[in-house]
Amino acid sequence: MNIAVIGTGYVGLVSGVCFAELGNRVICVDKDTRKIDILNSGGIPIYEPGLKELSEANRAADRLAFTSDLPGAVRQSDIIILAVGTPPLPNGEANLSYIEEAALEIAEAMNGYKIIVVKSTVPVGTNERLSDLIRRRTKHLFDSVSLPEFLREGSAIKDSLQPDRIIIGVDSPLAADTMVELHKPLTEQIVVTDIRSAEMIKYASNAFLATKISFINEIANICEKVGADVTQVAEGMGYDKRIGPAYLKAGIGYGGSCFPKDTRALIQIAGHVDYDFKLLRSVVEVNQGQRFNVIRKLETIFGGELQGRTVAVWGLAFKPNTDDVRDSPALEIIQFLVENGVKVKAHDPVAMGNFQALFGKEGVEWCNDALETAQGADALCLLTEWEEFADVDLKQLQSVLNRPILIDGRNVFEEEDLLGTNFVYYSVGRPSLNQGVKEQLPALPFVQNL
Ligand code: UDX
Repeated sequence: MNIAVIGTGYVGLVSGVCFAELGNRVICVDKDTRKIDILNSGGIPIYEPGLKELSEANRAADRLAFTSDLPGAVRQSDIIILAVGTPPLPNGEANLSYIEEAALEIAEAMNGYKIIVVKSTVPVGTNERLSDLIRRRTKHLFDSVSLPEFLREGSAIKDSLQPDRIIIGVDSPLAADTMVELHKPLTEQIVVTDIRSAEMIKYASNAFLATKISFINEIANICEKVGADVTQVAEGMGYDKRIGPAYLKAGIGYGGSCFPKDTRALIQIAGHVDYDFKLLRSVVEVNQGQRFNVIRKLETIFGGELQGRTVAVWGLAFKPNTDDVRDSPALEIIQFLVENGVKVKAHDPVAMGNFQALFGKEGVEWCNDALETAQGADALCLLTEWEEFADVDLKQLQSVLNRPILIDGRNVFEEEDLLGTNFVYYSVGRPSLNQGVKEQLPALPFVQNL
């Protein structure tokens, strides 16, 4: 099939490359000529393991091309996939101006029947609104499809080529057949549904996963008080097939370009139809508080006095294997520390440039590796679970720190890693690993079932 993908951000680029890998002829379009130049010279403007190699192989096989010429790409394609950004507006709603602009450009370029697919995450009803816009600008026939995307940064290629399911929202049998045909090589689990339900599936899925994370983070917070271990609790829960083990890792809360934006957007969507999504509002609130638990632990250790301390931070990306820092907990944590007179030293294997672009270069000492960051610090906070950090020898780490204080925001280290060290170690929801805390646990009141 001949496919045009509009937008070469994460979703667009990965989808374009993967559709080419399936044997289709794909042309990826972006207004940003700088990005197109990078792509045409064999580079990749984002960090995603394996993407560069796959893109190169498909370019060499003449199945993949990059251009800024949207009308040309539309004319030569049967399927047009919209994958432009829908970033949040200050009130949490999705900004649809880019997608509307792209839809109008597509309408004006059309030269025959097309299937117009929306892969960007958009509020329920947006596909219909875009169809109306296009219909007013063209005499040609077209069908609309909602094709929500579920890929995760860092494992985007695997998620695209081996998805758990494909959701196709459509109101035309012809478009439904074409889309099923296109995705058949990927999975048998193809759900064909109406357009509004497909739009909702995306928000509901992300909101549910975010809920799992906030749930386990609250359980972790309780574990810290009652002397239970959240990793054991999550494992025990996860064996129940109705619960499942995924997205039950306690930490410093979710970040990234999807969960924070989509949870807030779904609260807004519900609000527009006079529904107060109380549960999801709590999920967002818990997530916001969770990142500050790192600070609370530092304050406890330093007797409330952060001013003048040196704190090392390992990890700036919102999760490992990505250079993405959008809504990364590290942003707010570091900002708080700097504003409270803490000297911050920080390092991330790949996300330092993006972090500096958002945060600025001032106020933080940027370091080249894990040990250099820790050198002379009064405490170390691990915020992203990069392998590079997990591999550090803790005895060596202890020898370079000014004080052996380690706040592990991602539960990277285990009891055996700490053997032979004197770390004051705080993780998330595992109080028994905190130095000396086992003995201090309070006796719990006997609570009768009421
Ligand atoms: C997410 C969805 O998984 C994907 O389906 C959707 O299309 C886009 O949003 P992504 O943002 O790339 O993908 O990352 P993901 O791996 O889902 O992690 C999101 C955040 O949750 C990260 O900050 C991660 O650290 C955190 N997380 C995840 C936890 O804190 N605990 C977990 O158990 C899982």
